[in-house]
Order: sequence, then structure tokens, then C-alpha cells
Amino acid sequence: MEVKGIVLLTIIVALLSFVGSVSSTQFLTGCNYTCGNSKIPYPFGIGNSTEQGNAPCYLDPKFELSCVNNSILYIGNLQVLDIDILHTQMEVLFYVSKYYGYEYEENTKPTLNTEWLSISSKENKFITVGCDSYGYLDSTYNSNTYSTGCLTRCHGNEMFDNGTCSGIGCCQVDIPSRMRNITVEAFSFNESLLPSRICRTYSFVVKNNNYSFSSTHLKGLPFKEVPIVLDWHVGEFEDNCSTVSKKNYACMNNSFCDDKHTDFGYRCKCNKNYEGNPYHPDGCTGKQICIYLSKMIFMRKVVYNN
Ligand SMILES: *[C@@H]1O[C@H](CO)[C@@H](O)[C@H](O)[C@H]1NC(C)=O
Ligand SMILES: *[C@@H]1O[C@H](CO)[C@@H](O)[C@H](O)[C@H]1NC(C)=O
Ligand SMILES: *[C@@H]1O[C@H](CO)[C@@H](O)[C@H](O)[C@H]1NC(C)=O
Ligand SMILES: *[C@@H]1O[C@H](CO)[C@@H](O)[C@H](O)[C@H]1NC(C)=O
Ligand SMILES: *[C@@H]1O[C@H](CO)[C@@H](O)[C@H](O)[C@H]1NC(C)=O
Ligand SMILES: *[C@@H]1O[C@H](CO)[C@@H](O)[C@H](O)[C@H]1NC(C)=O
Ligand SMILES: *[C@@H]1O[C@H](CO)[C@@H](O)[C@H](O)[C@H]1NC(C)=O
Ligand SMILES: *[C@@H]1O[C@H](CO)[C@@H](O)[C@H](O)[C@H]1NC(C)=O
Ligand SMILES: *[C@@H]1O[C@H](CO)[C@@H](O)[C@H](O)[C@H]1NC(C)=O
Repeated sequence: MEVKGIVLLTIIVALLSFVGSVSSTQFLTGCNYTCGNSKIPYPFGIGNSTEQGNAPCYLDPKFELSCVNNSILYIGNLQVLDIDILHTQMEVLFYVSKYYGYEYEENTKPTLNTEWLSISSKENKFITVGCDSYGYLDSTYNSNTYSTGCLTRCHGNEMFDNGTCSGIGCCQVDIPSRMRNITVEAFSFNESLLPSRICRTYSFVVKNNNYSFSSTHLKGLPFKEVPIVLDWHVGEFEDNCSTVSKKNYACMNNSFCDDKHTDFGYRCKCNKNYEGNPYHPDGCTGKQICIYLSKMIFMRKVVYNN
């Protein structure tokens, strides 16, 4: 037995990490910050504070949420999945429009009648599923209706591509910006293909990458609601940073007004080197950067026998 060689292996790992300060200023004191697994950052809130003279936990009534069964967060009658303060967005579950033939009670045209929530044009797609089908996404305000949509025709040919919404059996389009007060509508070109004989028609807005087409969906979608991303803003929808009144100004200490990234109203951002929640009365706070440097040395002896 002979020792052929000894390999000394040294690994030095330098670990550099930046740890931001854990912000305690996401909600008003005396208010609840959670509902089940969902977080409720200000300007959103539920009910009135148990402190501060029972002031509302939200900035103004449009930001009022409710917590059902201590677990499910709602805005109006829509379930809220996520609230993003930085990008002023919110993910909710919204309904699918169905068309099964003119005489069917299952037909639906879901609406979202709000002025202050618009469909995020970058984060969603509009989709129609069906054989001889088309769908509209309408936005109605100031007595004008703006629509986009898509169509798919296939006369029962089995040219479907599972997994991709390629245009046959399933079509999709991008969503224009500034779509608010929306209605989703599904239609058919050919009533004789309906209802259950070959396929049904569905239209919906859905968060990017959250829908995967399958030819089985032509006979029935396996869900009634889909996640969509909404843009929100502070201020009235006609406000911008130069017109917002000082009385209602929502951007607190160490933050500034930004209207370049909102379709309506404005949003607030922390000043450079500050972080936190710019809408909270305490405003943004200075960044704390902690650098941890650790070295780990592993030594290993490897002995080869021959
Ligand atoms: C916070 O949540 C608890 C449990 O759901 C509830 O009893 C309480 O009233 C809530 N407080 C506020 C201020 O909403
Ligand atoms: C919450 O506060 C608002 C404004 O102060 C008040 O009008 C409302 O009655 C309060 N609600 C409750 C449930 O105390
Ligand atoms: C809340 O709980 C009750 C009783 O468990 C249930 O009937 C109801 O459907 C629940 N509501 C929601 C929105 O989940
Ligand atoms: C919202 O849309 C509905 C039709 O879906 C329309 O009747 C209503 O006037 C619209 N609201 C506004 C403020 O334009
Ligand atoms: C698509 O997938 C479903 C379920 O996996 C299958 O039943 C169907 O035959 C597939 N359709 C095509 C066109 O491959
Ligand atoms: C409707 O579909 C039926 C069955 O596929 C077909 O025979 C008929 O020509 C279609 N009508 C139109 C107007 O496309
Ligand atoms: C929706 O998309 C997110 C990422 O964009 C992904 O993590 C999630 O699994 C998707 N959900 C569904 C139901 O496809
Ligand atoms: C702000 O709004 C006013 C009044 O609507 C308008 O005249 C002005 O051009 C807007 N400014 C910007 C930067 O959009
Ligand atoms: C605003 O922030 C500055 C700098 O962080 C601080 O000196 C000042 O006290 C703050 N004002 C309020 C009202 O919190």
C-alpha cells in the first residue's frame, strides 16, 4: 500500500450580502397588516384603527379592503392575490366570459366598473378560446367605447396545438394601455357549432404566462376565474404631479411624485437612498446596507491507494 498523492483543496467563499432594513412602516398602527397569507400595505387597509382616534386604516375609501373568514382578501367582490406598492399594481381573480349559444343561461359578460383600476397592458393578455369564435375587451368612458379582441376559426378541424395559443382554437392579443371600466364579451360566428356539439366559446384577460391552451378546453374551461394584473394610482384619475393639490398630496417624507409610469393619477417613489412605503405617514427611511463577509475554508485530504 502506497500513498500516491495528497490533494489539498481549499475553497474560500466570500459571501457578500446586502440586507435592507425590515420596514415596520407598511401599515398604520392599530390596523391589521395580514389577512390569511395576504399582506395589506398602506394606502390599502381594512376598517378603522384601534388607535389614532379610530381613523380609517386606508388612505381613502377606494383603498378599503375586506377580509373574509380571516383568510381571503377582497376589494369589492374580487379576491385580491397580491398588492405591489412599488409598481402600483394589484393581482386579483377576475371572471371568464362564456358563450354557449344565444339561448343559454350560462352566457356571461363580466364587467369591472371602476374608474381608478385599469388593466395592466404589459402584464396581461386577452384570450379567446373556441372554434368559430371571437371575443372583445371593451373599455367605456366619456360615452366612448374602445375595443380590442381576437378571432379563431377552425370548423372542427383538429389543427390544435396543445400548450400554445397559436390562433387555431385559441387566439391572444396584447392589451392597449388605459383600458378601464371594462367588459369582456365572447361570441360565435356559427350558432350551429354550439353548444355542446363541438365547442364552446370563452374570452378572458389573464396574467402573462398564466394560461396554457388545451384542446379539451373547447368543451369546457376547468376554471371560472383567472389571475389578472390591475394598475392602480393615487389621486383622482385626471390628477398629475403638476396639478395635484397640496391638500391631497399622497407622497410622504423623503419621497417624490411620479406620473410618467401611470396611465392615470400618479404614484409615489422613495427618494434615492431611501426605502419603505412612500404613502405611509412616516414616509421613506434611510437605507441600511449591511455587508456580511464570511470566509469558509474547506480542507480536504484525498489519499489515493494503488
Ligand atoms: C384585526 O383582525 C382581527 C382578527 O380577524 C379582528 O378581530 C380585528 O377586529 C381586526 N382589527 C382591525 C383594526 O381591523
Ligand atoms: C371609521 O372612521 C370613519 C371616519 O372617521 C367613520 O366615518 C366610520 O364611522 C368609522 N367606522 C367604524 C366602523 O367605526
Ligand atoms: C366563509 O366560511 C363559511 C363557513 O365556513 C363558508 O360557508 C363561506 O363560503 C366562506 N366564505 C368564503 C368567501 O370563502
Ligand atoms: C362604464 O361602462 C358602462 C358599460 O359597461 C357604462 O354604462 C358606464 O357609463 C361606464 N362608466 C363611465 C364612467 O363611463
Ligand atoms: C391535448 O391534451 C389533452 C389532455 O392532455 C388531450 O386529451 C388532447 O387530445 C390533446 N389534444 C391534442 C390536439 O393533442
Ligand atoms: C356552420 O357550421 C356548420 C357545421 O360545421 C357548417 O356546415 C356551416 O357551413 C357553418 N356555417 C357558416 C356560416 O360558416
Ligand atoms: C402564473 O405565472 C407565475 C409567474 O408569472 C407562475 O409562477 C405561476 O405558476 C403561474 N400560475 C399559473 C396557474 O399558471
Ligand atoms: C397635467 O394636467 C394638466 C391638466 O389636465 C395638463 O394641462 C398638463 O399638461 C398635465 N401635465 C403633464 C406633465 O401631464
Ligand atoms: C423627514 O425626513 C428628514 C430626513 O430623513 C428628517 O430629518 C425629518 O425629521 C423628517 N420629517 C418628518 C416630518 O418626519
